[in-house]
Amino acid sequence: MSKKPAYSKKSGPLKGRAVVPGDKSISHRSIMFGGLAEGETIISGLLEGEDVLSTAEAMRQLGARIEKCDDGLWRCYGVGAQGLSESEAIIDMGNSGTSIRLLMGVVAGYAMSTFFVGDASLSKRPMGRVITPLQEMGATFIARDKGRIPMAVKGNASLKGINYTLPVASAQVKSAILLAGLNATGKTQVTEPAPCRDHTENMLRHFGANIDVSRDSEGLRVISIEGGQSLQGCAVDVPSDPSSAAFPIVAAVLSADSEVHVYGVCYNETRNGIYKTLIEMGADIEILRSYDQGGETVVDICAKGGKQLHGIDVPAERVPSMIDEFPILAVAACCAKGVTKMTGLEELRVKESDRLGIMAAGLTAAGANLEEGADSLTIHGDGRPLKGGVQIETHHDHRIAMSFLILGLTTDAPMRIDDASPIQTSFPNFVSLMRDIGAIIEADDVAPTGEKTLRFAEDL
Ligand code: S3P
Repeated sequence: MSKKPAYSKKSGPLKGRAVVPGDKSISHRSIMFGGLAEGETIISGLLEGEDVLSTAEAMRQLGARIEKCDDGLWRCYGVGAQGLSESEAIIDMGNSGTSIRLLMGVVAGYAMSTFFVGDASLSKRPMGRVITPLQEMGATFIARDKGRIPMAVKGNASLKGINYTLPVASAQVKSAILLAGLNATGKTQVTEPAPCRDHTENMLRHFGANIDVSRDSEGLRVISIEGGQSLQGCAVDVPSDPSSAAFPIVAAVLSADSEVHVYGVCYNETRNGIYKTLIEMGADIEILRSYDQGGETVVDICAKGGKQLHGIDVPAERVPSMIDEFPILAVAACCAKGVTKMTGLEELRVKESDRLGIMAAGLTAAGANLEEGADSLTIHGDGRPLKGGVQIETHHDHRIAMSFLILGLTTDAPMRIDDASPIQTSFPNFVSLMRDIGAIIEADDVAPTGEKTLRFAEDL
C-alpha cells in the first residue's frame, strides 16, 4: 500500500464539539462475541477501523455471519457454542494485535487448524505470551522465533482449565485465556499483576456468561470462568474510544483559548489514566456528565486551552490504565513546564512499534530535551513550544502518526509524518475531525516541512 505523507502546523484556538469513533477494544469484542453467541447481536457505534474490520472478516472466515446493515447497525448471527468451522484460507490479521491474540484463545478450543498472518508490524510482535498458557491448556502452535507470526494453531476440543498468573498486565493475554476457558473443561482462573482493561469480563457478562471477579490475599484481581457456557446474542452500544478522544483533548489543552467538547467517551477506570494525569498536570479538563451505557461508565468531556501544564511523576501503577496514551502524553509533557517522569513503560517497546524509542527519537529531533531509559521516559519541558520542522517515520503505528500530527499543531515549524495511512486502523476520520475543530493538518506528497501542498485529502 502506498504511503500517505501528511503535515500539521501551528493552529488554534481549537473550538467545537466532537464525537470520536467507537472504542476499539469494545468493538473487537462485540463482533467476536456476537459471532460466537447463539442468535442475533446488534451493534451500534462500532468502530469501523481496519483493525475491527479484520476481526469481522476473521469471524466470517470461521463461519459467523456478520453484516453492516443499511440502518448503520452491525448485525452478527452467531454460530453458537462449539459452532465455529475451520477457515479454508489463511486469516490475515493486518495490524491488529487484539484480533490475533483474542482469536488465538477462541480457536484454541476447536479441533481444527487455523493459520494467521499479519502486516510487518504485527509480524514483529511477541505472541509467546499467549502461546504459553494456551499450550498449557492443550492447544498446539507452530510459529516463528519468539512465537511470531505466521503461525498455525492446532486446536483441541478437550482443553483443560488452568490457573494462571499473567507475567505482564495484558488485557489481550487475559482475554485469550478467558475465551479459551469458555470452551475448556472445568474452571479457568487468571490473576492479574495489575488491573488491566476489563472489557472482556464486562462483555462476557453482558452476553450472559457467568464470570467471577475476586481479589487474592495480596489484593490482586482474580478472574474465573467455568467452561462449557454458551453466549446469548444481545444489543451492544459501543461508547467512544478514550484513547482516540485523547488526541483532540490534548490538542485543545495545548492551544490557548481553545474549548473542545467530546461526547460519550468510555471512562472505564481501567482506561482513564490519561485524563487523571492531564488533570494532575494542570490541564483544564472537566467531566460534564457521567452515565452508564451497557455496563460501561461514559462521560462528556470539556477541554480548554491556555493553562500552563506542569511536569509530574506519572505513577507506575497507573500505566495499564493509559498504556496506549503515552505517545500523546509525551507530546503534552514537551509543552509542560518542568520534568515529567514516566516509568514502568517496558510494554511500550512491543506495541505496534517500539513506541518508547520512536517517541524519544522523534521528540528529540523536534527539539525536546529528554532521557530515554530501558522502560522510562523523562521529559524536561520549559513551557515553550518545540521548534518542530522534522519528518517522522510512523512505522505502521497509528498512535505515533496521530501524536506527531498533534505535536505539529504546537511547534514553531510544521511537523511531517511519512505515512498517515495507519490512522485508518483506529480513527478513520481523525484528520477531518481535527480539521473541523480548527487544526491545520494536510496531506503532503513532497515538502519535508509542509511549505508545498500537492494534494488535499479529507479521507486520509
Ligand atoms: C487491548 C489491550 C492492550 C492495548 C491494546 C488493546 C485490548 O494491549 O494496548 O491497544 O483490547 O485488550 P495489551 O493487552 O498488550 O496491554
